[in-house]
Amino acid sequence: MTATPQPAHEPKKWRRPLGIQLRSQLSAPTGDYRWVYLWGWPLRVVHWASAAAIVVLVVTGLYIGRPYFIISGEASNHFVMGWMRFVHFVCAGVLVAAAILRFYWFLMGNRYERFGALFPVSRKRRYDLWRTLRAYALIRPDEAPKYLGHNPLQQVAVTGVYVALLVIICTGFAMYGQATPDGLIARAFAWVAPLLGGMQVVRFVHHVLTWCIIIFIPLHIYLAIRHELLDHGATVSSIISGGRFVSVREHFEDA
Ligand code: HEM
Repeated sequence: MTATPQPAHEPKKWRRPLGIQLRSQLSAPTGDYRWVYLWGWPLRVVHWASAAAIVVLVVTGLYIGRPYFIISGEASNHFVMGWMRFVHFVCAGVLVAAAILRFYWFLMGNRYERFGALFPVSRKRRYDLWRTLRAYALIRPDEAPKYLGHNPLQQVAVTGVYVALLVIICTGFAMYGQATPDGLIARAFAWVAPLLGGMQVVRFVHHVLTWCIIIFIPLHIYLAIRHELLDHGATVSSIISGGRFVSVREHFEDA
């Protein structure tokens, strides 16, 4: 009896793991680069201190609004809500301190950190905003104006975040003041409730803005990492080290 010939086994092709595949698609930067210093240490401190404070404020704030876990037993034994409120108010203090430092740095920082870099008001910046929008919408992707600091669309986004945080601070202190109606904080923020239409609306605005922040955080992280990896923008590195390398051949509108 003759044995039936077995089909020769094809050697298994080695497939690179997904991480390596993706990495190989990211072209390595070539050519001459120069180092540009953008963000001074006060701005970086403000960024990371407020980022940490905001995360804790969201977690504790959502608990205050609607406790998402309950510990049984006498409240005075575990004091969970008390701790949540305490931590919320401590982080509110950190956020306010960061806001004061940021305001000072609007006046004393470099050209990328001052008020002038905040919102696209000039005709040129408004035109660049339009060009950036067209590029982001993939209509004219090659015509995106390059900026060392924030591009006009990022300027609008950053200004929006500052305004949202200002409103959340004012509504927060308006609520906080209720504990001592004759106190300094209650009197300083007495204008907030009449302006918005009552304390319930103040609370509602505080809550809705929290959800705006919750949506903003992952988008912000995604876009920063995307810019870091695909455009070699060094966005993430620059908010740690203060600066980034840029190609000497590239032209920047705000250089
Ligand atoms: C990014 C910043 C902040 C976030 C995300 C945040 C979030 C929240 C949320 C979600 C609530 C619950 C609202 C509800 O009842 O549905 C809350 C309550 C509150 N927040 Fe904030 N907050 C922030 C900043 C502040 C600041 C700066 C203050 C100033 C003191 C503040 C003071 C308060 C007070 C007083 C309450 C009500 C506490 C209570 O009813 O016992 N918050 N916050």
